[in-house]
Amino acid sequence: MAKKLAPSILSADFARLGEEVSEVVKAGADIIHFDVMDNHYVPVLTFGPKICADLRAYGVSAPIDVHLMAKPVDDLIKAFGDAGADYITFHPEASEHIDRSLRLIEQVGCKAGLVFNPATPLDYLEYVIDQIDMILIMSVNPGYGGQKFISTTYKKIKDAKECISRLGAEILVEVDGGINLSNISEISSAGADIFVAGSAIFDSENYAETIAKLKKKIA
Ligand code: DX5
Ligand code: ZN
Repeated sequence: MAKKLAPSILSADFARLGEEVSEVVKAGADIIHFDVMDNHYVPVLTFGPKICADLRAYGVSAPIDVHLMAKPVDDLIKAFGDAGADYITFHPEASEHIDRSLRLIEQVGCKAGLVFNPATPLDYLEYVIDQIDMILIMSVNPGYGGQKFISTTYKKIKDAKECISRLGAEILVEVDGGINLSNISEISSAGADIFVAGSAIFDSENYAETIAKLKKKIA
């Protein structure tokens, strides 16, 4: 699959969210990354499923990738499935029944994934690999945009690719946090398929120019 760019709306201007999302899609974004934070699993509060439904009603048709930084997750999985999400990922530490939550994502018609914090081992993949379409490797600790990329992530991406091929699975590897023009090509060479970038895109002057430069580095 061609490598894809997923701007995180956490760094967008919430007062103009519909326009911002349409603008990055027009500028070449492939997937829209939703950072759902509940002020419980992470000490920050962002937004819920209504934003997803309203963006769909506004006319956003690009794939929406919902990253749940919330605990528990099952009710949010149902709500975002109804609101038009395409991918839903959650942190294994945030569900008492990981297999059941993954199956619930499939039941609501979305693609399912687990999110791995910098210190979270990949072992969680072992017995649920058949339920997983994507894994999200956090290159920062969850909760904030604009943080510095944690360099142990390079090895973790390679380990994840090895684990996926050992288990004979077709799983996309998404990397999230601190990605910018200076590190995206090394992240791509390590094996990432999807790149989440929030501040690198939304804090830039020209979204199309920034996205074109980022994409050139991962082509
Ligand atoms: C952090 C979020 C990331 C973050 C990325 O908890 O999961 O998606 O918004 O933002 P940048 O690209 O600015 O690090
Ligand atoms: Zn995220």
